[in-house]
Amino acid sequence: MAKNFNLEALVRNNIKTLEPYSSARSDFDKTDKEYIYLDANENSYGSVLGNGFNRYPDPLQKKVRKNIAKMKLIDPAQVFLGHGSDEAIDLLLRVFCRPALDRVIICPPTYGMYQVSAAINEVGVLEVPLDAGFDLDVNAILSNVDPSTKLIFACSPNNPTGNCMSKDRIVQILENFDGLLVLDEAYIDFAGSDKSMVQDISSFPNLVILQTFSKAWGLAGLRAGMAIASPQIVNLLDSVKPPYNMNQSCINLLGRAVEERHMLKKMVKEINEQREYLVSELKNISCVRKIFPSEANFILFQVDDAEERYNQLLYNGFVLRNRSNLVGCDQCLRLTVGTDEDNKQLVRCLKTWNAIDEMFESS
Ligand SMILES: Cc1ncc(COP(=O)(O)O)c(C=O)c1O
Repeated sequence: MAKNFNLEALVRNNIKTLEPYSSARSDFDKTDKEYIYLDANENSYGSVLGNGFNRYPDPLQKKVRKNIAKMKLIDPAQVFLGHGSDEAIDLLLRVFCRPALDRVIICPPTYGMYQVSAAINEVGVLEVPLDAGFDLDVNAILSNVDPSTKLIFACSPNNPTGNCMSKDRIVQILENFDGLLVLDEAYIDFAGSDKSMVQDISSFPNLVILQTFSKAWGLAGLRAGMAIASPQIVNLLDSVKPPYNMNQSCINLLGRAVEERHMLKKMVKEINEQREYLVSELKNISCVRKIFPSEANFILFQVDDAEERYNQLLYNGFVLRNRSNLVGCDQCLRLTVGTDEDNKQLVRCLKTWNAIDEMFESS
């Protein structure tokens, strides 16, 4: 554990003294007793849809948090739910970083929202690139920490590289950094539970794990993500979030998703198999220079000319992401694993390039 970690000292003063908004629905728990609710200016007659959305939802989503905690073998008090994990990123910045004074460390190439959210909150960003193997450069990170460094963002498996960060490096940061390490595990379900740090959450009070329902769970349209952290950190996030940050239909559907989680394993297996199929096919495409190992639902690969190949694919109806402008990703495209049929079509298209390349070579 970091020797001088002191959560109280990390929190912005205005948040420490904040009197959070007290919503009508947090004062009274619907499950306790049959009350007649005349407190929240809702429509007591019902809704135009006639299906029970006339009441504000539970601001703390207690039931679904409890079921998620049970599934993750943690305490419900360690679970924060947000409007996507992007909401948790923003709230962490707002709770811990003073605009124009504090800063965060990010490790590019990585997910773009850490930088964007920091910029929105006027929080400085120091970039400490991943090393040549796309792993955390612990010495460089720790030597760049100063008293203004409140958060370090790490992503595992990392977007866009697809690999997991080494656990021992994550632990080294946790043991030597007095701020918070925000470990984004958005793609962890594709990598296997032994790669997750969720079970270590009680051992590291300066660890915040982000997970999302947008990837393996297939619920990107719902906008649901979580931050897993100490109850004290969860409380802080709850105190600054909009009171009803998760709507009732999202809460309902999330509850159903958790009940039907047997589907998750099956989908992850299929996606991982399709990823390996794509990797094996990409190896035979002549313009592909390098394929980076992935434990996520996407593949980063280097081609001869990323812009040209990106446009050729677009012309053929395939939208990929050109990641060439990111540190360490020269001439790289990021490909999300599609359905069996999507992937076959893509491979057919890529193979026609081989034939064209061969034609040019022999002429
Ligand atoms: C690493 C990473 N974290 C978080 C997110 C966003 O997740 P959510 O949809 O829960 O906001 C993404 C989305 O692409 C991502 O790649």
